Amino acid sequence: MKPLHLVCVVGARPNFMKMAPLLRALAEYPHLRPTLVHTGQHYDKNLSDIFFEEFEMQRPDVYLEVGSGKHGQQTARVLERFEEVLHKGPPDGGQFDRVVVVGDVNSTMAATIAAVKLGVPVAHVEAGLRSFDRTMPEEINRIVTDALADMLLVSEPAGIENLRHEGHAEEQIHLVGNVMIDTLLHQLPKAKHRDILSKNGLKPGQYGIITLHRPANVDRPEVLAKLLDVLAEISQQLPLVFPVHPRTRQRIKDFGLSDRLSRPPGIIALKPLGYLDFLALTSQAKLIVTDSGGLQEESTALGIPCLTARPNTERPITVQQGSSTLVGSDPHKLREGLEAILEGRYKSGSCPELWDGRAAERIARILAETAR
Ligand code: UD1
Repeated sequence: MKPLHLVCVVGARPNFMKMAPLLRALAEYPHLRPTLVHTGQHYDKNLSDIFFEEFEMQRPDVYLEVGSGKHGQQTARVLERFEEVLHKGPPDGGQFDRVVVVGDVNSTMAATIAAVKLGVPVAHVEAGLRSFDRTMPEEINRIVTDALADMLLVSEPAGIENLRHEGHAEEQIHLVGNVMIDTLLHQLPKAKHRDILSKNGLKPGQYGIITLHRPANVDRPEVLAKLLDVLAEISQQLPLVFPVHPRTRQRIKDFGLSDRLSRPPGIIALKPLGYLDFLALTSQAKLIVTDSGGLQEESTALGIPCLTARPNTERPITVQQGSSTLVGSDPHKLREGLEAILEGRYKSGSCPELWDGRAAERIARILAETAR
């Protein structure tokens, strides 16, 4: 079979756990030849390197070092540098046949634009998700990426509906399941052996996890202060572990809110964690409060109650079938949700179809067939 030269693109933290299972699945097909490109959107050890180690993932073949910046800057740097990678072509000569992108970060969209302009088709993993909220940078990234990609690999049924509605042809759309859950199921046995709970004096089922990093929650002092106030209050009853994203840490400092994180027994603020420590914590938590896309899905797969601090979600199955509830940036709704969980009045959910650990295998099979 003739070789198919793929360029797989990663850039920011949520990309690594989606690409790792895919690279493993692609390795089953000798004619698929992936080149891994890391844009460098995230560069801190705990936002990037650690995942390569933990997933035993191949190191990037190319590193674009775009770093942080305004949206336009970051996008432009990826466009310019990724275009050069495509011009250069695969290591053994010839041209790249296809680019594979995952998720909805700036790197995803920028790599897609560069590729299609050069006539290289794009497969988008996690296609079709829509929050219908264009104030979110990720929504713009999703819309642009899907408009340009020709292979749309979808994680939940709503994605199929959205893509149909936007006029994509049926043969472009494939319901494959959730690659992020592939990684979760693959890593869960290892995560159970971590000592992160005991190190922080935590007992299974007797603490909560917080993650907050979206501009809507952390960029306005009055919003962030009210959310932290509720969390600090609840943390007097249930310890809350908060691995703090660098942008959130900066905002807390800028807004003079650091005291909210330091009232014992209170909130346990940590640096961003690696995948295994974080999974050890989430999988044994009583509850999760988050504004992350991935964590909404992971909590649903794990069956852990999750209060999602967003007014909408592009992942509706996590609310309709899963264990998530939208509370927006509203401190009252957050408090009500937390009380319902603590008093045992919270709904139970179930794991969506095809979130079974085999999504990457399905994607690799579809890609392999395009080489025939
Ligand atoms: C990005 C993604 C978001 C994803 C999140 C996961 C976009 C638009 N956003 O948001 O969808 O949920 O990653 O973490 O692509 N910084 C560091 N070290 C790093 C990287 C960033 O300290 O390694 C700091 C910098 O101050 C930077 C800020 O974090 O300016 C924001 O980084 P950026 O990549 O722009 O967006 P995220 O908020 O991380």
